[in-house]
Amino acid sequence: MSKTIIISNRLPVQLQISDGGLNAIPSVGGLATGMKSVHTGGESLWIGWSGLTMEEIPESLEKDIDEALAEHGCSKVRLSSKEVDGFYFGFSNRTIWPLFHYFLEYSEFELDFWNTYKAVNQKFADAILEKSGEDDTIWVHDYQLMLVPQMVKQKRPNTSIGFFLHIPFPSYEIFRTLPWREEVLEGLLGSDLIGFHTYDYERHFLSSVRRLLGLEVSFNDIYLEDRVIKVDSFPMGIDYNKFHEAAKASVSLKGVQRSDLQKKLDAHKESAPDTKLIVSIDRLDYSKGIAKRINAFEYFLNKYPEYKEKVRLIILAVPSRSNVPQYKLLKREIDELVGRINGELSTVNWTPIWYFYRSLSFESLIDLYVSSDIAWLTPLRDGMNLVAKEYIATRTEKTGVLILSEMAGSAYEMNEALLINPNNFEEQADTLKKAITMPKEEQIARNTFLQNRLGRYNVEVWANEFMNALRQKSLVGDVNVTQKISDTILKNLGGQYAKAKKRLVFLDYDGTLTGFHKDPQKASPDDELYRLLDKLQEQENTTFFLISGRDKQTFTKWFLEKKYNMIVEHGVWISRNGEEFKLLEKVKGEWMEKIKPVLDSFVDRTPGSFIEEKNYSLAWHYRNTDPDFGEKRATELNTVLRSLIGTDDISVLNGNKVMEVKSSNVNKGRAAVRMLGEDNYDFTFAIGDDWTDEFMFQELPKTAITVKVGLKKTHAKYHVENTKRVRELLKLFADQ
Ligand code: ADP
Ligand code: G6P
Repeated sequence: MSKTIIISNRLPVQLQISDGGLNAIPSVGGLATGMKSVHTGGESLWIGWSGLTMEEIPESLEKDIDEALAEHGCSKVRLSSKEVDGFYFGFSNRTIWPLFHYFLEYSEFELDFWNTYKAVNQKFADAILEKSGEDDTIWVHDYQLMLVPQMVKQKRPNTSIGFFLHIPFPSYEIFRTLPWREEVLEGLLGSDLIGFHTYDYERHFLSSVRRLLGLEVSFNDIYLEDRVIKVDSFPMGIDYNKFHEAAKASVSLKGVQRSDLQKKLDAHKESAPDTKLIVSIDRLDYSKGIAKRINAFEYFLNKYPEYKEKVRLIILAVPSRSNVPQYKLLKREIDELVGRINGELSTVNWTPIWYFYRSLSFESLIDLYVSSDIAWLTPLRDGMNLVAKEYIATRTEKTGVLILSEMAGSAYEMNEALLINPNNFEEQADTLKKAITMPKEEQIARNTFLQNRLGRYNVEVWANEFMNALRQKSLVGDVNVTQKISDTILKNLGGQYAKAKKRLVFLDYDGTLTGFHKDPQKASPDDELYRLLDKLQEQENTTFFLISGRDKQTFTKWFLEKKYNMIVEHGVWISRNGEEFKLLEKVKGEWMEKIKPVLDSFVDRTPGSFIEEKNYSLAWHYRNTDPDFGEKRATELNTVLRSLIGTDDISVLNGNKVMEVKSSNVNKGRAAVRMLGEDNYDFTFAIGDDWTDEFMFQELPKTAITVKVGLKKTHAKYHVENTKRVRELLKLFADQ
């Protein structure tokens, strides 16, 4: 039976060796806590790092460790301390983590880190290949393993691979600063489905893919040469029932049954019944805004001194990545801040801040959630923030107030919380006051909405939606894409070609016979292409046409001597057997001088774009512009032109990064059909890559063999991946 293989750096349990024995403790962090619930339910294997380096594991314990992990459905990847330094403390947490959380100044671009990251990602990929079969579904998690999808795809092209990023994907302006940005994107594109918590992260990612790799993106599909990748947002939920039920259990415990922490919290409440408890829980991480929160708390107490002795802030900071210098500095900063504020503001009966730097058991965590009147979470950036959701789930009476930073992914789904900008102290102080004084009815009303949503869209639903989308993709394949010319089909086409008595072949030039070039004049034919076309030319039963939107001067220069048949400017001009070009269609060009100034104004406003003037058409090229900006301008130009033209005589063609205005009675389809009518052909073939070629695909009879270059929506029967494959096909024809 096929399995799901989960891969993440952190396993749901961390192993510790104490007194020669093994200890398994649950991991903290959203990925591990969230995925744990998904993993326990299903048929899955979880591959990750045990938390111990190879040097820390004595040989005698190796087997015990494997067994202990196997009990949790886990299998370990062995990492040396050098690898952990470069991969985990290095590239993952000193380069990517700060960069993706917009802490550009903390991000270190070290070649050694990058090299170790690559090597360790390969280790994880190898572990997947070893532990999984062809039919298994692979689900890779988070920023530590962004190269793994491609590494697995290369070896197992037919295996379904999903990737989920648990942290933000930053805007292109930030991401572009990474020296290895293309490699990271290419690594991710080994996946079939890529998931993010929010639509904004998805949008940022797609923008980087377009701008840095120049790939075509349509809605949320990325078109590679031979695959389409789906990108979508799936906001992660929590195991709602687990938290809700645990909270119910915690409040129902009486007297001695209550935990030590709970007793301490009870005692506090009894001694000061009108004091409000505000809780904040995070890993000790600069992205969580803990220092700012403490400063904002001091600001609040100074702005509203009437709340001194009436509120207490409990800060639970979980030790995290303490080998990274920024985390060490942060620890010191927070220790000092708490010390100073408590020193300055404490009274005999009151300490404003209770600060704990430790990990707690699940039960204690619940006690803390349950006892707190307010949860105050102020990340400066956070992929999701599950603590916010967990706090709401534990409100058994539906009372309690959540104050949440707008910069957390969860804020998108938690509109009923009090949303704040963590940099705005004034707003935070006022919001704290609002939370403290919020009437119970309002608390209940807000939390009812929140709880309903969290209960419905829980972590199981989240995981199912992701897996279903991945499954759907592998079942349906790439929708809107025609059949690929496989080796078998290729052979078959060769057979048909060989058997035919009279063949007519239409070959588009740019993007079909040759790749694109920044300067169209430089995309001239190479010797191999000439040789192939010469061979076709020599075949007695073959008539072939180069059919292009190019101007006649260029094709005269490149091909006239060769005496190839040519149709240019989309069907305006024709040349056969080396004769000068003649008009194929009667066209009017008076409109051109009216339209030209409009295009000129777009060139002025769109750096990198230019106009190509042909005899009967004007083309505005925007291949060299910023892709998003270019597309935006193209849409704008389209609207302007359509409102200006208002006649059926002129039409606008949207080609591959080019917009062409031309007479309507001219197109490649019409020209091709005219040629077809000139003789009795028993084999008709047309190949091309953009919209202008679609006229041929649509207008030629159904018996024609039509081929699109690249994976795009098309009316053609088949597609091939790239110009290299086109050449293979032509070679087959030429060798008949
Ligand atoms: P991140 O993933 O950045 O750490 P999240 O808020 O998304 O932030 O996830 C934190 C997870 O870690 C939550 O599921 C929370 O319950 C758990 N956690 C946080 N603090 C503790 C703690 N002191 N002890 C145990 N688990 C904790
Ligand atoms: C975040 C990351 C996780 C990571 C967790 C804890 O939630 O998205 O990938 O596991 O923090 O961090 P750690 O470095 O301890 O694994």
